[in-house]
Amino acid sequence: MTKKFLKFPDNFLWGTATSAHQIEGGCNNNDWSHQALKKYINKIPWADKVIKNIPDAGIACDSWRRYQEDIELAKNLHIKLYRFSIEWSKIEPHNGEFDQTALNHYKKILISLKKEGFVIMLTLHHFTNPIWTAEFGGWEKKKMIKYFLRYTKKVVAEFGDLVDFWVTINEPGGYAFCSYGIGQWVPLKTNKFKMAIVFKNLIKAHKQSYKLIHHVIKDKFNKFPQVGIANDLQAYSNYRKHNLVEQIKVYFIYNFSNHLFYKLTNIKTHDFLGVNYYFEVRTHKQFNTKTKNDISVKHEDRHLTDTEWVIYPRGIYDVLYDLSDYKKPIYITENGIATEDDEVRIRFIKEHLEEIYYAIKAGIDIRGYCYWSLLDNFEWAAGYRPKFGLVSVDSKSQNRQLKASAKFYSKTAEANGLWWNY
Ligand code: FCB
Repeated sequence: MTKKFLKFPDNFLWGTATSAHQIEGGCNNNDWSHQALKKYINKIPWADKVIKNIPDAGIACDSWRRYQEDIELAKNLHIKLYRFSIEWSKIEPHNGEFDQTALNHYKKILISLKKEGFVIMLTLHHFTNPIWTAEFGGWEKKKMIKYFLRYTKKVVAEFGDLVDFWVTINEPGGYAFCSYGIGQWVPLKTNKFKMAIVFKNLIKAHKQSYKLIHHVIKDKFNKFPQVGIANDLQAYSNYRKHNLVEQIKVYFIYNFSNHLFYKLTNIKTHDFLGVNYYFEVRTHKQFNTKTKNDISVKHEDRHLTDTEWVIYPRGIYDVLYDLSDYKKPIYITENGIATEDDEVRIRFIKEHLEEIYYAIKAGIDIRGYCYWSLLDNFEWAAGYRPKFGLVSVDSKSQNRQLKASAKFYSKTAEANGLWWNY
């Protein structure tokens, strides 16, 4: 057996990622909140369905109040890159009315992070929308773009000198698909036409906010910001490697899912590429006639994560390799596993980092990695069951406790690499 130390590049940024609705608590004014939906029950046709089918995030990890504790945790993990999101519905609770107290609160968090020497990656849109936007149809309507830009402008003018990386939209494709295509997320719609409209509006929103962020920051702070998205990218392959029909299918699904947003926004509106990678999808013709969904390998009966995702570390290498054609710096903005077994989490991280290491060796410009997530948190339609965190959070006391994986990750970040036995 050979022992080898996989050393990462000197300025490699180790990090973690979270989002507001998933950790903050008190997000009671957006389209995922039961409290908000109840108030709008007669104004939003799908409000009742969401209340019945989607769990409420409630107090989450109470990070709105305990953010300092989270920052301390991140510091103890020796990480440098802190990715989180701000909640639009707290910043703009009513159409056109900005809440200065909420803005000041976020400013306090940003200042505290800066004081501790973190590089900050801030997401402007991470799935949730103010409830007042849901009343008129949210991303299904073109006017949503103008509202998103107004919010962006406000935030960028307030925080422009504190943020290092701006993520305009988290997983635009995943959001359109899960929320409007397969009805898994709010607003639980299954309408491919609406999905396409939403996707189109997200494309415009990104393009215009890219320009706007650059403009405001240049004007106000005389700086050049780093703006991009966190894209959900999967590895795709086919079962029958030499079957032309299956190969063609993979080709189309792959290009549609992983590249369409870059193509339609123009790669010039991405200063960096944010990669959210979790699993592999394999296509097949008729693997199991009982399942309607023919792009799933769940029925292979192999070890899956607690969210039933296929663990496939090699896939991150393939995705990264493929993105390198764009010649942009790449950051892994999310990668992680839902599991109650922390040894499995350590193995997952190790195996994915190994692939990233080899991708860097192959000459790909990868500059950072965020583990999803710092904390066990609210996992959208699945509620609090899946455990993605390096740190567990007691739902009653909100006490945070480092898991073994947190210690492993901390050592890796401190050593800027990891040992492998071959
Ligand atoms: C991603 C989301 C993130 C989290 C992880 C598990 O798709 O961006 O909020 O839920 O999945």
